[in-house]
Amino acid sequence: MPVLLHLDSSADLKTSRSRAITASFADTWRNLSNDHTVVYRDLHREPLPYLTDANLHFPAHLRPADASPDAAQELLQQRIINELLGADVVLIGVPLYNYSMPATLKTWVDYIHVPAVTASFGPVETQPMKGRPVVLISTRGGAYDTGTPTEFDDHAIPALSIILRDALGMSLETIISTRTLSERFGAPAAEVTLQHSELAAAHESAIRAARRLG
Ligand SMILES: Cc1cc2nc3c(=O)[nH]c(=O)nc-3n(C[C@H](O)[C@H](O)[C@H](O)COP(=O)(O)O)c2cc1C
Repeated sequence: MPVLLHLDSSADLKTSRSRAITASFADTWRNLSNDHTVVYRDLHREPLPYLTDANLHFPAHLRPADASPDAAQELLQQRIINELLGADVVLIGVPLYNYSMPATLKTWVDYIHVPAVTASFGPVETQPMKGRPVVLISTRGGAYDTGTPTEFDDHAIPALSIILRDALGMSLETIISTRTLSERFGAPAAEVTLQHSELAAAHESAIRAARRLG
């Protein structure tokens, strides 16, 4: 039974591009067969509480002797990690907020990145998600074209790549849609046209990726 873990984090419940593109992926996934299931988590509508104790970044055997993180939050963290471990493919909507990821998504990352549990710590390889695909749907209001001064201003995808690809060992791909605010703020027609074609291409890429990975 192939399981897709689908996460959204946009705070826009009406016109979100990332929600629309992740939906294209998830709908395609569901239609692959009756066995293809989706576990959905809306990190904006139901935000996880921030970590209340730094000791939750480590498993019990790597914590100081006097550590006593909140038991309920530890249980919730275990549930979130189990949700990740149960996924064959992970799909994440990543709107660019202040050149980074939404705080709700960052909090999810804080829950699931645990050295010696989901990521390697020391010489022993601990990467239960190794090789499993993760697809990031990146939406950005502005333009970040190669060779322009803003080329490296998106700090969301690089941070997620370090965690999910390098630390957890997942096979990461990113589908990007930029200039999403161009129409609303009266950008030149060429920019709006580019936005439309990028968005259409992102939907197509999402559909193709779902078929390939499912
Ligand atoms: C809180 C907030 C911060 C934002 N910061 C940026 C930013 O730093 N750079 C940018 O290009 N767009 C920024 N935007 C615009 C969003 O990236 C853009 O609207 C994008 O389409 C959001 O994804 P969504 O359509 O899935 O909601 C910001 C939007 C919000 C709500």
